[in-house]
Amino acid sequence: MSMQILRSEVVLEKYGKALAGKTGILTRLHDPDFSHQANIFKVLITGVSDESIAGELAVQISAVNPKLLILSARAESKVTPIINKIKESKPNVATRFLNMELGDMGAIRKGVENDLADIPKIDHVVCVAAVMACPYAKTKDGFESQFGVNYLANFLLVRLLLPKVQAAGPSSSVIIVASSVVRRGKLNFDDIGFSNGETYEGWAAYGQSNVARVMFAKKLGEKLKSKGIRVFSIDPGAVRTGLQKHVSPDFRAQVEEWRKTDKAMTDVDGNKYDIPPWTTRSEGAATMITGMIDPTIADFTGSFLKQNAVANEELHSQIRDEQNWTRLWELSEAFIGEIYPL
Ligand SMILES: NC(=O)c1ccc[n+]([C@@H]2O[C@H](COP(=O)([O-])OP(=O)(O)OC[C@H]3O[C@@H](n4cnc5c(N)ncnc54)[C@H](OP(=O)(O)O)[C@@H]3O)[C@@H](O)[C@H]2O)c1
Repeated sequence: MSMQILRSEVVLEKYGKALAGKTGILTRLHDPDFSHQANIFKVLITGVSDESIAGELAVQISAVNPKLLILSARAESKVTPIINKIKESKPNVATRFLNMELGDMGAIRKGVENDLADIPKIDHVVCVAAVMACPYAKTKDGFESQFGVNYLANFLLVRLLLPKVQAAGPSSSVIIVASSVVRRGKLNFDDIGFSNGETYEGWAAYGQSNVARVMFAKKLGEKLKSKGIRVFSIDPGAVRTGLQKHVSPDFRAQVEEWRKTDKAMTDVDGNKYDIPPWTTRSEGAATMITGMIDPTIADFTGSFLKQNAVANEELHSQIRDEQNWTRLWELSEAFIGEIYPL
């Protein structure tokens, strides 16, 4: 598929049968655990709220009759409007609120180990939650908050969910949402915490956390390739959501000016790129769905996706360097105090 901004409905219409158990999951229909009903897949999504892309993703996926949507947020009130929307249009789709504060590793562990103990298989894990360019803060475990919430929480969450994803078998997926900001972001291995906040800059920290997300997907994709589990990092494009809450009015106005004048941005290696155009939430969620189910990109697992297509050529040299994937992986295992059994 060439790069195209598409609505979620279009991607689901094209490939949704893979979710409905007819193609991607066909190989598993002999598995006694799978009944021959269409709606056999389960999806876990983080960052769900009425104004977020993850909330839209949940509503969109409900259209193809999942068996269960596990919707995670740090307050039930965030998820309730989405559950209500799904109940209205798809009363037979089961939903479950999963309470997880991603800035607290203990809460992530509790969420998976206690609250999901009765669910042995999860077909698709979509890590969408994030905070952008916020004032300096630390997670409960002492990490700079954007690195902690946007990246390290995913590293731990996926580690804990991996047995369930592996149990779901080939064609399952792990989707790590990132951003076009990776083009300007760098991971400062020598000082991930911005000297305990002294050198903190909100956009640099957002960029760093997204670089980490993309490198994580690269390494995880490599490790899970032989098992047929899909892993992609995703740039959803520019969507008006709750994410912009920390962006100052002056900076917003500046970016709109750049958009109007087609100002080119420059990435870490000096390559030019355009500021992404505003799109709808449905268009933002579409590339996540592409990552989950588009069969034509399965061989590119680990890749960075943008506008429903593989876009690795957009990644700068630090992100492409495989030694950095390994360095981050090992560092992250030390941070979570656990190794991945892969
Ligand atoms: N919107 C864009 O233009 C854009 C562009 C590029 C990439 N992205 C990426 O797309 C993803 C979705 O963002 P969005 O635009 O939908 O933003 P959003 O509306 O702000 O959604 C992000 C969600 O993450 C949750 N979250 C933040 N901190 C959390 C924490 N500590 N624990 C648990 N949940 C937490 C938020 O919940 P609370 O309300 O409780 O904080 C919120 O529901 C993000 O990964 C973002 O980096 C977005």
